[in-house]
Amino acid sequence: MNNWNPSSWRDFPIKQQPTYADLEKLAKVEKELGSYPPLIFAGEALKLKNELADVVNGKAFLLQGGDCAESFNVFDANNIKDLFKVMMQMAVVLTFSGGCPIVKIGRVAGQFAKPRSSDFENINGIELPSYRGDIINAVSFDEKSRMPKPKKLLKAYNQSAATLNLLRAFSRGGMADLHKVHAWNLDFIKGNTLGVKYEDLASKISETLNFMKSCGITAENTAQLNETTLYTSHEALLLNYEEALTRRDSITGDWYDCSSHMLWIGDRTRDLDGAHLEFFKGIKNPIGCKVGPSMKEDELIKLIDALNPENEAGRLNLIVRMGASKIEDHFPNLLKRVKAEGKNVLWSSDPMHGNTIKADNGYKTRDFADILSEVKQFFQIHKAEGTYAGGIHLEMTGQDVTECTGSKSAAITQEGLKNRYHTQCDPRLNADQALELSFMIAETLKEARQDHN
Ligand code: PEP
Ligand code: CO
Repeated sequence: MNNWNPSSWRDFPIKQQPTYADLEKLAKVEKELGSYPPLIFAGEALKLKNELADVVNGKAFLLQGGDCAESFNVFDANNIKDLFKVMMQMAVVLTFSGGCPIVKIGRVAGQFAKPRSSDFENINGIELPSYRGDIINAVSFDEKSRMPKPKKLLKAYNQSAATLNLLRAFSRGGMADLHKVHAWNLDFIKGNTLGVKYEDLASKISETLNFMKSCGITAENTAQLNETTLYTSHEALLLNYEEALTRRDSITGDWYDCSSHMLWIGDRTRDLDGAHLEFFKGIKNPIGCKVGPSMKEDELIKLIDALNPENEAGRLNLIVRMGASKIEDHFPNLLKRVKAEGKNVLWSSDPMHGNTIKADNGYKTRDFADILSEVKQFFQIHKAEGTYAGGIHLEMTGQDVTECTGSKSAAITQEGLKNRYHTQCDPRLNADQALELSFMIAETLKEARQDHN
């Protein structure tokens, strides 16, 4: 790694980038960003890496979730709070059944840059650059909005800082208190069967807490009862931003991308000889890489060797996103090969990105049954191979949106998508659907952990 530095990616071919008209302005913004404080510090990233090593070793489970794309327009405390609450609920459901700690990572406080299937979008004969996320341009379909603007990097930084600040406050300031387990239930879920199922579980936890209190175990002497950690993550796609926030740790001398605790490489930018691989090789954060259906066995081994040359558990999370109809054909051989080569990786399932479809009325959606099916197959394939299904990666929100169809509780039809379709990019599970999925995963996790231990 002798030639690596935070800007060495600039010498490699790069995909999925905007074309900025004013490069001088871009350089100025990068310089300014480079003078701003880091958003996280190296010790936190290391702590996360250790927790993820526990996942690799079958002692914990990873829950990663949040928006497909965060938005400058929809930036309010309630959204952040509701995401926090639903992640706490899901974690409680998973801990209770799975009987293991849940490592929580939000797709939040920096998830602003999006890869696109096409560089241009054509509507009624008018062609404009595609929307690439709020850190780059804006979603409205007009020339001005679609023009990439360097100063958006600064806005993304500021929004990330404010979001992270609130998440840290919730985590330590009482919102994560297990005594509030009932209060995490969101109003629109409370009345339905799922809400009732959750209330049952919450009541069992409250009883246990009362029992523990009688034994002298309280939040005053056991911080875990009223504090938590919600780590942050995003796709490190716009390397100009990531480079500017990459800092050398004063204790170890190592480089960390301090824009987020964990960063991942998308399925479209994981070329072995590309700029993204180069950048990721030099940062010491825990990292992820999406693994889609086009991934080849040899390619995957080369990728693992490049990104995790020391075979360190917790460093590399392979996020499998094949699609419900493809996972059975593509995943088992990859898994077998990685196992045979003795690679320490965390396997998690992203059941969203391989299951995107267009509804008859034109909405981009995902059906709950496909999402569930991919997750179930992911667990079954691991079971057959004797390996550990370590986590789940979801696009979800705490809001009552109608973006994905199906599920027992929410029962959203294709027709119903239009009611509250708010996403800036891909369709997300609403809080109801996310909770339903976690109850189902909890059952499977329980079995998987019994097999594994
Ligand atoms: C995403 O996670 O939003 C994404 C674009 O995923 P992928 O790279 O797997 O397509
Ligand atoms: Co997405």
